[in-house]
Amino acid sequence: MKILITGAAGQIGSELVVALRKQYGISNVITSDINSKANEAILQEGPFELADCTNYQQIKNVIQKHHIKVIYHLAAILSGVAEAKPQLAWNVNMNGLYHILELAREYHCSVFTPSSIGAFGPSTPRDKTPQDTIQRPTSCYGVTKVAGELLCDYYFRKYGLDTRGLRYPGIISNVTLPGGGTTDYAVEIFYEAIQHKKYTCFLKQGTFLDMMYMPDALQAAIQLMETDPKNLKHRNAFNVTAMSFAPEHIFGEIKQHIPDFTMDYKIDPVRQCIADSWPRSMDDSAARQEWGWSPQYDLSKMTTDMIQVLLKKLK
Ligand code: NAD
Ligand code: SER
Repeated sequence: MKILITGAAGQIGSELVVALRKQYGISNVITSDINSKANEAILQEGPFELADCTNYQQIKNVIQKHHIKVIYHLAAILSGVAEAKPQLAWNVNMNGLYHILELAREYHCSVFTPSSIGAFGPSTPRDKTPQDTIQRPTSCYGVTKVAGELLCDYYFRKYGLDTRGLRYPGIISNVTLPGGGTTDYAVEIFYEAIQHKKYTCFLKQGTFLDMMYMPDALQAAIQLMETDPKNLKHRNAFNVTAMSFAPEHIFGEIKQHIPDFTMDYKIDPVRQCIADSWPRSMDDSAARQEWGWSPQYDLSKMTTDMIQVLLKKLK
């Protein structure tokens, strides 16, 4: 079974490729991105294709050439960048997904597409946000994410295409820096704590958001794609979360490891506005019931691991 990862050079892709190649074999996992330089060593350990998801023919060539049967479609523009460049975000997030779905229909592939906490908006219940609830996002990113969820469900209902997805919270990782999202502060803070013992946070105190450590994010995607479809009542997309905290909580946790670490705040109004429209904590019981979702990392365990890994990486 040949697997394609689009957007493979990004924060999630650069680690998903390693997990999938370990499980399915290096030559069975084909990576692609518009960026052939980032994470070159990881991606080009196996087959890599330079391909733009907004270009139907380029993606078609890759799927044909490698006889792809499963697609992890990660190529996207994240929330902060999407607010600065909404036209680009619409083109990549919507037309890119449309091309993937059309090609998956033609070549009988199954498709994993990550949605996000960004698919919710200010009229959504913000605490214990239900799986099925009001979705009226106000960011461009959110508009593309909720439309993407609906489009994937439509292809499942209309064509029987095996589409599955997760509403990821902010993902925290130590291999690749995040690509311009609202939750990026929760990654940056570790690098700054270790390198400069000082961090200026762009979200204000008390801004609770759902988060997850990368090993859980990878496990969730692979586990969902391997689940017997007869167990799935929902498809696009499952709420999944591992922890919910505000900037002062992650600061306090890091300070236990680095006692002279300090933090102040300089609020970015654009990203603060986005964060204020997102859930404070999601209810992920549908994922737990339908395919056994169970995260391994809480804030404390993640912080210990992040600091251990980054101390080695950054020294
Ligand atoms: P990222 O920004 O780190 O990586 C995205 C990758 O897509 C980049 O390598 C970029 O070069 C590539 N890309 C951009 N435009 C492209 C195009 N036209 N064709 C092909 N590739 C293109 O993003 P990520 O954090 O790895 O996110 C992956 C997916 O997960 C996205 O759909 C994102 O919305 C979703 N998600 C991420 C998070 C998170 O916290 N990282 C949270 C929720 C959802
Ligand atoms: N981490 C992502 C972002 O902030 C959430 O989808 O854009």
